[in-house]
Amino acid sequence: MNDSRIIVALDYAESAKALEFLDQIDATSCRIKVGKELFCRSGPEFVRQLVKRGFDVFLDLKFHDIPNTVAQACGAAADLGVWMINVHALGGLKMMEAARKALPASAASPLLIAVTILTSLNDEDIQSVGLSGSIAQNVRRLATLASQAGMDGIVCSAHELVTVRASMGKDFCLVTPGIRPAGFAPDDQQRIMTPSQATSNGADYLVIGRPITMAREPMQVLTALRSDMKAAHPVPFNAT
Ligand code: C5P
Repeated sequence: MNDSRIIVALDYAESAKALEFLDQIDATSCRIKVGKELFCRSGPEFVRQLVKRGFDVFLDLKFHDIPNTVAQACGAAADLGVWMINVHALGGLKMMEAARKALPASAASPLLIAVTILTSLNDEDIQSVGLSGSIAQNVRRLATLASQAGMDGIVCSAHELVTVRASMGKDFCLVTPGIRPAGFAPDDQQRIMTPSQATSNGADYLVIGRPITMAREPMQVLTALRSDMKAAHPVPFNAT
């Protein structure tokens, strides 16, 4: 069983480069995230190939459309055999409920996660699209809406973990990017947190890209991170 809380962001433009990286990785040492660029270049067949190789795939396509369209897209994503998919909570309660209904209630169904407020937006940006209140207030409101719709959890920034965990309880899955192990370059991330801090603050899964994908020995980095995080919080979400 894969009990890893690390989701490696496969931010490669070409499938060949992604596969070259994955050749160095044990499929049970992490999960992997395929985003819009790699998916648009390499397609569903590539995702099937990753699943066939034993990787748990988070298909990060952030669906946001009318309920019927999102439901059909979620069903199609689930058919690829992926482990996690996501939608935008701003698509609304009905859209999220339709997404939920599209996935059969079985252990083989992917986890269904909602994105609340993109961390690239600041208070001024959200006001300019008509949202009132602060980012923190909107994140909390959308997390509650996501839970009402039956989502398994949300993506949130490391700095929202403590308040979201406190208001949503322990059975809500929190997925967090913007993570940097101590001593690693922040790259273009603005507000970073270490894996053990984020885990102690309530994160279930950490999305980590460059510190692992650019490492000379990615398996060594993964192994060190896994043991740090296990010490911080030993029981992963849905471990059973
Ligand atoms: O290389 P790095 O660890 O910065 O990669 C982080 C991954 O998480 C990237 O795929 C990035 O797009 C994604 N992400 C993020 N911040 C968000 C949402 C997603 O860094 N708010």
